[in-house]
Amino acid sequence: MEIIHSPGQMTAWANRARQSGKTIAMVPTMGAFHEGHLALMRMGRSRADLTVTSIFVNPIQFGPGEDFDKYPRDLKRDGGMAATAGVDVLFAPSPAEMYPTGFQTTVSVTGLTDTLCGRSRPGHFDGVTTVVAKLFNIVKPNLAIFGRKDFQQLAVISKMVRDLNWDVEIVGHPIVREADGLAMSSRNAYLSEAERQSALALSKSMQQARQRVQAGETSAGQLIEETKKFLQGHPGVAIDYVSIVDRLTLLDQTDINRDSVLLVAARVGTTRLIDNTVLFDEQ
Ligand code: PAJ
Repeated sequence: MEIIHSPGQMTAWANRARQSGKTIAMVPTMGAFHEGHLALMRMGRSRADLTVTSIFVNPIQFGPGEDFDKYPRDLKRDGGMAATAGVDVLFAPSPAEMYPTGFQTTVSVTGLTDTLCGRSRPGHFDGVTTVVAKLFNIVKPNLAIFGRKDFQQLAVISKMVRDLNWDVEIVGHPIVREADGLAMSSRNAYLSEAERQSALALSKSMQQARQRVQAGETSAGQLIEETKKFLQGHPGVAIDYVSIVDRLTLLDQTDINRDSVLLVAARVGTTRLIDNTVLFDEQ
């Protein structure tokens, strides 16, 4: 596995690969790898000739008071893990190379970003779409893989690509969970043992909601209330939002249907966690 730091060298590598007829899969990340990231990389390997993973803790997607400074960074550990997952190139640019003095452009998706995490984290998705646009232009992937754990992020990036006629296929990967159900996240490393137990309430609430729908519940309002009550019954869990939306428009629903997704964001201690589930089994 090759490690490339310079955007110029990354583009030169991508140009050579494409000229020799190879397809490229890309997995954008902020590092601090866990099994969820590795699953995306393996999917890349199975779908394209070459896989590029980027590691870049993107300053412009963090708000004031968020965890940009303390976000875990360990290129050596991550490099070893990416190599075992079969990644061909690890692209790890510096903030100065990505945002040189005088950088003045923002890529912004409207509408889809007004709700859910976009409402709680103003400017966050502009930071995400701007960096992903840059990464796509530097790496020129044929396809790019994103986790459904960040459900809104996947929807926003898919919309950006469609709206801008970008010739890159966006592929969603199912949520990878710990054995006890907790959705894997780099931020789980911040949790104390007690907080880790409280955090389980999120995935449990998803399971419980699915069971309620299987048992015939059709009211989104009712299910949201029950889910909130369940989460509030767990000490140390502070709800940011519980929403049921249409999976494509991300608009709130009143009646549950095959397109319904339940999403939750909550703070456990000082750590912000998210989870989501479709409410009917996928066909
Ligand atoms: P990061 O949080 O590092 O996540 C990188 C990718 O891994 C994202 O597509 C995310 O959805 C996916 N992922 C994380 N945990 C997962 C899990 N438990 N199961 C499945 N997929 C999971 O998301 C970002 O970085 C950034 O916003 C980025 C897109 C790189 C832009 O900076």
